[in-house]
Amino acid sequence: MKVDLEGRVSIVTGAGAGIGKAIAKTFAANGAIVVVNDIASTGEATAQEIIADGGKATFLQCDIADRAGVDTMVANVYRRFGRIDILVNNAGCGAKPEHRRPIHEFDHDEWQRLIDIDLTGMFYCCRAVSPGMVERRSGIIINIASIVGLVPVRRQIAYAAAKAGVVNLSRAAALELGQYGIRVNAVAPGSTLTAGTEAIFYNPEKKALADSLISHIPLGRVGTPQDIANATLFLAAPEASYITGTVIVVDGGWTAGFARDW
Ligand SMILES: NC(=O)c1ccc[n+]([C@@H]2O[C@H](COP(=O)([O-])OP(=O)(O)OC[C@H]3O[C@@H](n4cnc5c(N)ncnc54)[C@H](O)[C@@H]3O)[C@@H](O)[C@H]2O)c1
Repeated sequence: MKVDLEGRVSIVTGAGAGIGKAIAKTFAANGAIVVVNDIASTGEATAQEIIADGGKATFLQCDIADRAGVDTMVANVYRRFGRIDILVNNAGCGAKPEHRRPIHEFDHDEWQRLIDIDLTGMFYCCRAVSPGMVERRSGIIINIASIVGLVPVRRQIAYAAAKAGVVNLSRAAALELGQYGIRVNAVAPGSTLTAGTEAIFYNPEKKALADSLISHIPLGRVGTPQDIANATLFLAAPEASYITGTVIVVDGGWTAGFARDW
């Protein structure tokens, strides 16, 4: 898919790896100037790959759960580029494997860590970019949620709650910001093959687990970061100018229903 993002100043959080990296590279390949954010220094490699491919990118490191850090990052972008056209709130994480437990055993600190990153961090980023967007009467915000925010899974109580929050944060912000020409949407990926999910679900030693998960996906395969980047690109495109307050589910049909004979 080719869309016109020429010169659009875009921030992609958590773009040092996985889905965020695919989004950053896809946006740059469609003409956007990409501010690659990550808590890790891996964001620099993403920015360098984009530049090597002929695109425009710069790396700004910060933890999105650190409010002051987010405000500084956004101020830097305004200083450097004068505006922010698109925010893709992608940075996020699930519970560490050792913390995947039912609610009656779920660790309090892990709960707080996930709410801080997966929900509050996304709020900080939306909050920081939106005054400038309101002033310019234009802007696009895309929040990466999860199907787990729509249909919960077991042993991921904090992630399920945070991602459900992201879905309604997106809808509520769309209600408030629509009058200023700002569109806010969410993308809800299903299981997507990244380094993190490969280690937990899809490595060859866990073939039975992978097969079992994939058996719930009508299209018979796990998603790729590019599948998610394509939906995100569409929501950022001028062609999506009448779409706001919605969630695009990209899950191979997983949440369409009960994928078993009845
Ligand atoms: N992979 C999946 O199966 C899947 C499914 C549904 C939703 N998601 C969502 O997609 C998004 C990306 O997931 P992914 O699988 O690509 O993850 P990933 O772990 O491969 O990459 C996430 C990136 O975000 C960065 N990051 C983490 N915490 C951060 C913070 N506080 N501040 C800034 N950067 C931070 C990491 O350093 C990493 O580079 C997340 O919001 C995740 O919840 C992923």
